[in-house]
Amino acid sequence: MMDVDTAIYTRRSVRKYKRTPVPKQLVQELLEAANMAPSATNRQPWEFVVVNRSFLDRLEETLKEAFQERVASVSEEAMRRAIKDLSLPDGAGGDRLQALGAFYRTLGGAPVAVGVCLPREKDPWVWKNNISDSAAAIENLLLAAWGKGLGSCWMTGPLKGRADAIASFLGVPADRELIAIIALGYPDHQPSVPPKKDVAAKTRWIGFD
Ligand SMILES: Cc1cc2nc3c(=O)[nH]c(=O)nc-3n(C[C@H](O)[C@H](O)[C@H](O)COP(=O)(O)O)c2cc1C
Repeated sequence: MMDVDTAIYTRRSVRKYKRTPVPKQLVQELLEAANMAPSATNRQPWEFVVVNRSFLDRLEETLKEAFQERVASVSEEAMRRAIKDLSLPDGAGGDRLQALGAFYRTLGGAPVAVGVCLPREKDPWVWKNNISDSAAAIENLLLAAWGKGLGSCWMTGPLKGRADAIASFLGVPADRELIAIIALGYPDHQPSVPPKKDVAAKTRWIGFD
């Protein structure tokens, strides 16, 4: 089993996957790992929708529109700036924006995607905690996946502008909100380590020498 430090320091967002199917049992184990995350008052508000490739193919048009809208909502230049650090697979003639577009459309050919949902919540305090809880669960899932040789990419981009269409396709009930999509599968490229900011520059120590 991969030790925690190795998983934390070597995990990368993967944006191209082999077609090799991921056994349902393996996905089940990842969901168990996600479910072990800490949560405020142990509410464990997260819920998952696991989608197989055959269904994801039918989502391609919606994902394509989501990407086009996302680019249109800023400027192409701003979008290119925003994605400068993302590790993308080769292809699209080296055009990074097009490569990212291809990833959005197909989720990098991921054999599985996991939708993460939360109950809709009016209380901002509870909602904030629920978001934190689900982020902890997602990170658990990502690290557990990496430890088992699977890559992943945590995605919210497609939900900007197309959340309702995607949620409806996944059969997410009206009282639930789809807050993330996780692409999952065996990596088909080797993402480089993106630049990480200096943690010392954003840490204040109180009461230490
Ligand atoms: C909340 C959240 C949303 C993200 N949404 C997207 C996304 O829509 N598309 C994408 O390609 N990557 C997305 N990512 C992945 C980040 O781009 C990635 O984590 C970051 O570039 C650092 O790379 P690393 O995961 O390899 O360390 C998202 C990550 C998080 C935590």
